[in-house]
Formats: sequence, structure tokens, C-alpha cells
Amino acid sequence: MAFPTETVYGLGVHALDAAAVRRLFAAKARPATDPLIVHVLGFEDAYDLLGEDLETGPFCRVRRLAARFWPGPLTLVVPRSPHVPDEVTAGLNTVALRAPAHPVARALLEAAAIPVAAPSANLFSRPSPTRAEHVLEDLGGRIDMVIDGGSTQVGVESTVLDLTADAPTILRPGAVTIEMLGELLPNVRTRGEAAAPDQPMPGPGMLSRHYSPKAPLTLYEGPRAVERLAGVVAEATLRGQEVGVLVPREHAERFEGFGVRVANLGPASDLAGMATRLYGALRELDSSGLDAIFALGVEDKGGLTAVLRDRLRRAAAGRIIHT
Ligand code: TXA
Ligand code: MG
Repeated sequence: MAFPTETVYGLGVHALDAAAVRRLFAAKARPATDPLIVHVLGFEDAYDLLGEDLETGPFCRVRRLAARFWPGPLTLVVPRSPHVPDEVTAGLNTVALRAPAHPVARALLEAAAIPVAAPSANLFSRPSPTRAEHVLEDLGGRIDMVIDGGSTQVGVESTVLDLTADAPTILRPGAVTIEMLGELLPNVRTRGEAAAPDQPMPGPGMLSRHYSPKAPLTLYEGPRAVERLAGVVAEATLRGQEVGVLVPREHAERFEGFGVRVANLGPASDLAGMATRLYGALRELDSSGLDAIFALGVEDKGGLTAVLRDRLRRAAAGRIIHT
């Protein structure tokens, strides 16, 4: 069943039931090479899924991180115990663990009394669902049920932190930011800095098209991005194309009344609000059958700007214009 978490809706199955996990991959049309996050109530329940002596290595860190950030939007990649089926970890010797904060997710975990493997409840390569309606849009008829908890608060997926690398490495930025993690882990780094050309891709879910909408999205970054964006939108409209723009409120007005579909992310100063609205806005643009979507980039100034930038760039799948 699908259920709300504070980040996005998840599609959950018994994490230790390999057959259930295979059905989950089929429902999402997700490649079996992309491992799942196992959801637990807290550190005590994570214990059984961890694969090493608790006093050494990553485990002291797991306990300290869990004490500070769980329940919450932080996923920890740790060595796995042999209980965890290969289907969950895509054959890796690590497992990703997270204790969600949403009261419905917690009530479900308490009632089920099992670890719950749950990816975001979207079809593969669609934006993650932030409302029950989004889940049904993608998975209606393919899953048994969705618990409707309204809109999720955070709106983007959890931070994925790999504790098995030499230095703790952020594989996916999220609402638990690098600055917050740095207070406990002074040597924390991001995957961008960590990746060496000869290393295998650390997060198989880091496929660049992971979050893309159906219509191609082009992202404009840099100091002249707004002007360039306005220019290309005008040209595309003149050519008779149906276009959509994804911009903060400050820039929404100039596009309104031009026959352009405008998705307004709210004030640029409200980063949390922009994150909450992002995926819903992408889906809304997508459902209007557009020829193209143009979006305004976000500069990485730390905190949530890094997360917004990451998700917009993934949605653009390489179509990024720097001006
Ligand atoms: O906020 C979230 O994390 C949501 C909610 C439902 O909890 N879940 C979510 O799951 O976003 P999913 O499957 O869409 O993304 C999980 C990410 C993928 O990028 C996957 O590759 C990575 O976590 N991951 C899972 N296990 C891993 C492992 N053992 N090593 C490295 N990356 C892993
Ligand atoms: Mg996902």
C-alpha cells in the first residue's frame, strides 16, 4: 500500500519478504538494479538490519545521527545484515534505512510491526508523489490502496547519506542539509566531490532522468537566466508551441496572459515552500500536454537551495542552459 511520509508518498511492502519486494518493483516498473529504502520506527528497529558490530565503524555514527535526525528526512546507507533480501538492496552489501516522521507513516509502521521497504510511490522516472492523487495518477489499478494524508510537508525525497564510504557522502541532497550534517560529521561531503571516474556509480538511483516530467524541461541558470527564459518562451509561443514555465512568484506575473501555462512555486525567499510545491507543479504542467517546459534555475547558496537545484537539474535531464 502507498502511504504518506513527511517527504513524499511511499509504496510499502514487508522488507523481509522477497516475493513482495519483487511485486513492488513490477508495480512501479522500476529496474531491479535500484535499491530500496527500508523504513523503521527508530534506531532500535534498525539494529536487526545492520550488518556489523555496533560499537565500531559506521554504527556509532548511525546512533548519533539517529539521535539527532530521526524521525526525519535522513536515510542512512550502512552495511546490511544477511536478513535483508537481495531484492531490497539490489544485491549490494549495504542497506538504506530511514525512520519517517509523518504520523501516518509511524502509525502504519507500529501497526505492521515489520520493517517496510518503500520507494517513492510513482511510476519509474515520474516526479515523486506529494499527494494521494499523484499516487493514483501513476499507480491506480496497480496497487491495493493508498492512505490519503493530504499534501506532504517537505515535498522532496530524504537526504541519502552513505556511511560506508571513507568519508560520509551525501548521495542525494534533501531537507537534512550538508550544513546540518556537518555539525556531527565534519568530513561530510557530497557525491559530486566524492565521485572518482573509475568508481562505480554509488547510488544506482542517481539516473539523470529519475525525476523528469513527460514534456522536455529546459533549465535556465545564471545571471541572465530570467531574460533568456522570457526570450525563448516568446519565440516558442510565436512558433505556435504550447509551453509551460516553472518559476518563483516574483517572475510568474510577466508570463501570465501570454497563453503560457505558468506554474508558480511561490516566493523565492520561501525555499521550503518551493520544495513543497515543486513536484506538484511539474505534474500539473505535465498533465496539460505541453510541447515544452522552461524553468528558472536555483543557485546553490547552501541549505535547501542545493536540494532545489539538484531536483530541477534532474528534471532537466541535461538540458541546462547557463547564461
Ligand atoms: O523520502 C524518501 O526517501 C522517500 C520516502 C518514501 O521515504 N523514498 C524514496 O525512495 O525516495 P526511492 O526509492 O525513490 O529513492 C531511494 C534512493 C535511490 O536513489 C536509491 O538508489 C538509494 O536511495 N539507495 C537505496 N539503497 C541504497 C544503497 N544500499 N546504496 C546506495 N543508495 C541506495
Ligand atoms: Mg523515487
